[in-house]
Amino acid sequence: MKEKEKIKEYWEERAKQHMENPSATTDDVYLRELEISVIIKTINEIGIDKGSLLDVGCGDGYSILKVAEAFKNLSFVAIDYSENMIRLARQRLESQPDLKHQARFIIGDVTAIGQSLCGSSFDIVLTDRCLINLGSFEDQCNAIRNIANHTKKNGYYIAIENFIEGHENMNAARRQLGLLEIPVRWHNIYFKEKEFIECAGRFFQDISFREFTSSYYFATRVIYAAMCQMRGEKPDYRHEIHQLSIRLPWIGQFSPIRMAVMRKDG
Ligand SMILES: C[S@@+](CC[C@H](N)C(=O)[O-])C[C@H]1O[C@@H](n2cnc3c(N)ncnc32)[C@H](O)[C@@H]1O
Repeated sequence: MKEKEKIKEYWEERAKQHMENPSATTDDVYLRELEISVIIKTINEIGIDKGSLLDVGCGDGYSILKVAEAFKNLSFVAIDYSENMIRLARQRLESQPDLKHQARFIIGDVTAIGQSLCGSSFDIVLTDRCLINLGSFEDQCNAIRNIANHTKKNGYYIAIENFIEGHENMNAARRQLGLLEIPVRWHNIYFKEKEFIECAGRFFQDISFREFTSSYYFATRVIYAAMCQMRGEKPDYRHEIHQLSIRLPWIGQFSPIRMAVMRKDG
């Protein structure tokens, strides 16, 4: 099986195993709550509360439907290449009749996004841990170009993606406490900040980063992980430390996951 098909199969299988459980797209369910709250905060800061939002790589729709609940005057289109994920997302939408006219879930691949979107463009485009699943930096950069092609002038791209620099800082802190490094998973390629800026900067302006998971990762992947090692316990994603750490102020750069916000030239 080719790498791309293997990665797609991974997401198809995850959708089958987790079903309507909110852990279909990450085991770290509090991280997901943190992402949702920061997406909502960022949309409020951008000041676009009417218009349209495209979520690329929406998974089971859990996050984007929470965002839709917060913005009644935005319409949402969400795509994912996994048919099983889109099936779960549509089921989730069925169970929330108040959002039925506000959101639509479509099967679509970010590497050929035009086929599913037929020329539509959006005020805001979002990716949340989607582009890290593409097989090379070249594919990731082409995907950013595709996203720009579907972003309206003066519209915004909000990218929550993984970067190697924060990942290395986290691993350096882990080493100091005698913990093993966390490897990049087989189906992910993390961005390098300089390359990301160089690529996204061809299509977007005013790129700024938000280290919104740094304190969360420091608390959970460094301190809590070391405490578990001392006690001979297995870390638990639902532990109170995860629950509390989403409320910490954002300090440092100790996490691979960060948000980049950028505007398309008017
Ligand atoms: C880590 S999950 C995140 C899902 C969702 N954004 C969230 O935050 O819960 C990554 C998602 O990206 C999707 N994905 C990966 N590569 C894709 C591609 N080339 N086109 C569309 N979706 C893709 C996967 O199927 C999966 O649902």
